[in-house]
Amino acid sequence: MKKITLLFIAIVTNCLAQNEAKHVTGLIADKAMVVSAREEASKIGIEIMRKGGNAFDAMVATELALAVAYPYAGNIGGGGFMVFRKANGQAGCLDYREMAPLASTKTMFLDKDGKVIKGKSTETALAIGIPGTIAGMFAVNKKYGSMPMSEILKPVIALAEKGVIVTKKQERTLINYRDAIIKANAENSTFNTNSKENDTVKYPALAATFKRIAKNGKDEFYKGQTAKTLVKYLQSKGAVITMKDLAKYEAKWRTPLSFNYKDLKVISMSPPSSGGICLAQIMKMTAPFDLSVMGHNSADAIQVIVETERRAYADRSYFLGDPDFVKIPLKQLMDDDYLKQRMSSFDKNKATLSSDIKEGNIKYNESTETTHYSIVDQYGNAIAATTTINDAYGSKYYCDELGFFLNNEMDDFSVKPGEPNMFGLVGNEANSIAPQKRMLSSMTPTIIEKKGKLFMVVGSPGGSTIITSVLQTILNVYEYKLSMQEAVNAPRFHHQWLPDVITFEPNTFDTDTFEKLKNKGYIINEKTTPVIGKVDAILILPNGKLEGGADFRGDDKASGF
Ligand code: GLY
Repeated sequence: MKKITLLFIAIVTNCLAQNEAKHVTGLIADKAMVVSAREEASKIGIEIMRKGGNAFDAMVATELALAVAYPYAGNIGGGGFMVFRKANGQAGCLDYREMAPLASTKTMFLDKDGKVIKGKSTETALAIGIPGTIAGMFAVNKKYGSMPMSEILKPVIALAEKGVIVTKKQERTLINYRDAIIKANAENSTFNTNSKENDTVKYPALAATFKRIAKNGKDEFYKGQTAKTLVKYLQSKGAVITMKDLAKYEAKWRTPLSFNYKDLKVISMSPPSSGGICLAQIMKMTAPFDLSVMGHNSADAIQVIVETERRAYADRSYFLGDPDFVKIPLKQLMDDDYLKQRMSSFDKNKATLSSDIKEGNIKYNESTETTHYSIVDQYGNAIAATTTINDAYGSKYYCDELGFFLNNEMDDFSVKPGEPNMFGLVGNEANSIAPQKRMLSSMTPTIIEKKGKLFMVVGSPGGSTIITSVLQTILNVYEYKLSMQEAVNAPRFHHQWLPDVITFEPNTFDTDTFEKLKNKGYIINEKTTPVIGKVDAILILPNGKLEGGADFRGDDKASGF
């Protein structure tokens, strides 16, 4: 009997070991980790923590290092959102989103007949919103930082002076955007669009900007010499941003959006990002379905997720905007009965048509390109931050004297109700343009607790696909028991109500799955989106160690100790 028991234990252990061995894992670290779009930025964040700095210090260093190493999306000419959870469980979030200039108007991107002027909200200097990144970094440092900004900025300045090595992927994007950057600036712009793989590119103007900021503080960017140079440059390009606009900009501490999914507590970004509320709606509508039994990326599981996404994005388009300007029925949108009723038209045999789904009946009084990084420090604090200049290289306007690109975030407003923006997202009155209003975002920096303990830090770029990329990464770990790296690697799909198609990463799903979905009436698109999201995440393993998930779709890298 004893022998049989021992044999049984040996077989089970062997099976478990084989099962374990099947998992591909990302970098494992004991105490602290940064996962970001560039190795240089992750390493600078880690360097700060090795010196004793906390996650908030590392955040500032990583964000600003990305402005140097990853001009495609990292920035000081844009804005972002940050969600944190301190070691004691206290959670919070910061909104350093761009704002519409004082001179902006609801119809500024329309012609005299009320038609949208193509490209005006993306390619002209009017597309530029008031940048929030520097204000955000100073707000973080003031409230939770443990090191002086001048100290944090040292490795960032050194990186800009020493230069950054161009990767293969960067060379490719430069080729893609070269003409657009030259069109916005001129052939002799100091931003070199001809850089090749392995070239070292130095950013002396950006280094000088950071040096002035290190010396003079936040006011340097919003009131000082940098502000004056920036406004002069912007106005020469036809922008309406003034010194008053810059002086009035403030980052805002907000209350994060929290909800439960089974035994997880999800803490995500509240409006003006739609990320948290959409994620909450989708996960709450998904919860009654047994996704793990349906199987990972099976037609049935895809259908459930698509139908919840369809309904959440329809609500997004109607109800969401800047909470300082519009009343958002957050409680009602997350209400269990409301969400149950939203899914009452779900039919497992056929697709719901987006034309049959409008925003829900709520009674109340009223890019693709971005970059995300995740941080856990040696003290147990966690940060999820997503930052953007909107499109790749933003508006493409590059201020030579200051050394950075400006955003084209005004396109994230609904320039006309019902007209799609560059991500195909349609909006409504709640997200119309008004002076000093913040444009609706999809950025979804998210932190998850399991049974009261830190479990995951996650986020992604990808415009409208951010929310669905974050969602699938969470489900991949929680429902399908994938490692952090496997969850990030797994192929993704996306649906956003309009257009009424499911977009899949090409050549990653089998034709059988497509056939099943087509038979139910779904329209499949495998052509237009080479990758969906670029997730950088950290998982806290049962033994307390950290596993990084750095997305292979970019040059993303985890660094830790
Ligand atoms: N610019 C992309 C977003 O904020 O969602």
